[in-house]
Amino acid sequence: MAEPNHSPFWGRTRATGGPGSAPEREADDEGGGSPADLPLAGLGALVTGGGSGIGLACAAALLADGASVTIAGRSQERLAGAAAQLEPHVRAGATVTAVGCDVAEEASVAAAVARAAEPAGGLHLVVASAGIGTVGPVVALPLEEWRRVIDTNLTGAFLTFKHAGAAMVAGGGGGSMVAISSIASPLSHPFMAPYCVSKAGLDTLVRVTADELGRHGIRVNSVRPGLVKTELGDHLIDDPAVLDDYLAQMPISRTGTVEDVAGAVRYLCGPQASWVTGQCLGVDGGHTLRRGPVVEHWARALYGDDAIDGRR
Ligand SMILES: NC(=O)c1ccc[n+]([C@@H]2O[C@H](COP(=O)([O-])OP(=O)(O)OC[C@H]3O[C@@H](n4cnc5c(N)ncnc54)[C@H](OP(=O)(O)O)[C@@H]3O)[C@@H](O)[C@H]2O)c1
Repeated sequence: MAEPNHSPFWGRTRATGGPGSAPEREADDEGGGSPADLPLAGLGALVTGGGSGIGLACAAALLADGASVTIAGRSQERLAGAAAQLEPHVRAGATVTAVGCDVAEEASVAAAVARAAEPAGGLHLVVASAGIGTVGPVVALPLEEWRRVIDTNLTGAFLTFKHAGAAMVAGGGGGSMVAISSIASPLSHPFMAPYCVSKAGLDTLVRVTADELGRHGIRVNSVRPGLVKTELGDHLIDDPAVLDDYLAQMPISRTGTVEDVAGAVRYLCGPQASWVTGQCLGVDGGHTLRRGPVVEHWARALYGDDAIDGRR
């Protein structure tokens, strides 16, 4: 009896050259062995938000495992710098490519997905890392600010899954999609409602998409970081009161590194996770065992005492 197509990369075809394929490189310089034996060799990956922070570290990890990686974001300057930083991680036969993309714009996401499928002759891996934050009380938050965060963090991930998922189904080789969620999904973070809602919605989107696409050998999961040192995380880390509050809620009391998160993403993208789908993996020093952070003094400074005390 034929084995059912439940392996994430069952039937995949490896890139053999042609337009957009990588120039031949010398030997694998990160651990020996043939580059063709690397777990993600011949696979195409898209990393949104790949120009910085967690997305950039994920791109490096996927490149190290042999994938051809396309990083996407709005700032061309940021992307160019990131692509140069990633070059040393590119394995023989693979490429790194940068593409301008606003994840809140459907046509932009569709174009980025199409570009990401070119270097390896198909799209097999996606990391949805693009994200932003905001601080403000529910009773006074401007609607535009709510929409800005939801459009980027939640609708952006939906559009990424939509177009990348369709490309993976059409390719017929299965795949893995990983979204970067947050401890703000399960834990209340007072005065960060849009961010919390966007990440909770993202985790639900992950579960439903995993349920829908499993039949195509496509796995969908999220990683939930705690406080990680990045441009976004530094806003919190740079305030000693906020940092101390975060650290007090972590049994393993330190800030995370982008590599901590990328390690989990690398696992979820790779063959060792071939039976893992619809899951949210916490990488947070145990923060979700306790409570969310206190940033009330920021919200008070931004919106005033009346708004924080529920008066408008
Ligand atoms: N750092 C933390 O403590 C932490 C904790 C939990 C979860 N996270 C999540 O981790 C993810 C990555 O954040 P980070 O910490 O690595 O911060 P970061 O360095 O600021 O990265 C965010 C990236 O998203 C991109 N981006 C933002 N809006 C975009 C849009 N509309 N379209 C395309 N790209 C967009 C940014 O590039 P452009 O501005 O050039 O577009 C940037 O490269 C986010 O989803 C964040 O919510 C972070």
